[in-house]
Amino acid sequence: MTDETVQPADVSRRKILLGTAAAGVALAGGIPSAMAANKSAATRKEFDGKTAFITGSARGIGFACAQVLAGNGANIVLFDIAAQIETVKYPLATVDDLANARQQIESLGVKCLAIQGDVRDRKAIENAVAKTVSTFGSLDFVVVNAGITQVGRLEMFDDASVDTVLDVNLGGAIKTIQAVTAQLRKQKRGRIILMSSVTGRAGSSVFPVYSATKWGMIGLAKSTALALGKDNITCNAVCPTIVHTKLLDNEYILKALIPQNPTWAAMSAGAKQMRHILPVGGYEPVHIGNTVRFLCSAESELISGDVFDVGAGLNAQWPA
Ligand SMILES: NC(=O)c1ccc[n+]([C@@H]2O[C@H](COP(=O)([O-])OP(=O)(O)OC[C@H]3O[C@@H](n4cnc5c(N)ncnc54)[C@H](O)[C@@H]3O)[C@@H](O)[C@H]2O)c1
Repeated sequence: MTDETVQPADVSRRKILLGTAAAGVALAGGIPSAMAANKSAATRKEFDGKTAFITGSARGIGFACAQVLAGNGANIVLFDIAAQIETVKYPLATVDDLANARQQIESLGVKCLAIQGDVRDRKAIENAVAKTVSTFGSLDFVVVNAGITQVGRLEMFDDASVDTVLDVNLGGAIKTIQAVTAQLRKQKRGRIILMSSVTGRAGSSVFPVYSATKWGMIGLAKSTALALGKDNITCNAVCPTIVHTKLLDNEYILKALIPQNPTWAAMSAGAKQMRHILPVGGYEPVHIGNTVRFLCSAESELISGDVFDVGAGLNAQWPA
């Protein structure tokens, strides 16, 4: 499904027209025009006129990033496979999830493109980027978020399953960055955020291949920061720990990790025990959305090549 319903927008022209309309209303109602101007400055949002391209955004963390950025005024491009991959043992997002996500983003008052595509397909991402730029005029924020997981001992995974995790998580991240680089360089600005993981900071005996891809994403974030920094493009990695999404809250994962009580409540309680510090267990995706918002904001313009752990205190026990 490729969404064709969003009309190409000349953002600057639209702003002028809206400004003219606002001034007309102000005069008709007898409000001094300076007051009207102040009002529009007060309602202006941080990311008005910006565009965010987010992979794996039909649900979960990617969708939460979309909600937070849209809530701050950014137009959104949702890019998601919205279909099952045979070797993945839990359900991925569906076409309905993607359509529903688009509706929810539009209800926040911004424009949204929903594009069904696979991050393993560089051409599909390039086409989506071209459509993003022709529709919205720029590409400001790229959230490299699409990912899958598998659970178990390293030696039990078959080749196809290993290849899929490598191809989606790491290959997909590489292809996404390859597909956006020319546009960001041309603009001489942009923010790229890669979704790594706590398993990209420490090893994991139960998520070994997944963990390897998440370590790889940190290397990719740092290399990208080095390669694109001179063009005023930042690149950072974010490491969530245990977040309440369908990546973990599904029968396949819960049965493997907590066979005696395969529930999200048990998983979350385990996370709370593991952290020792802040009194939280598994947390909500919006916490990652807020971190991504910061990395897109003016306040973080000099932060690049860094790794942001949203560990709720977990990392306090690690060496610096
Ligand atoms: N949930 C957690 O606790 C957690 C922790 C650390 C890191 N992460 C990372 O956060 C990211 C988002 O995960 P989530 O928890 O929201 O999971 P999720 O399964 O809810 O969302 C992942 C999304 O990616 C999409 N997707 C999968 N393969 C794709 C492909 N080949 N092309 C395009 N889209 C694809 C899925 O359809 C889904 O909508 C992942 O990279 C994951 O590894 C999650």
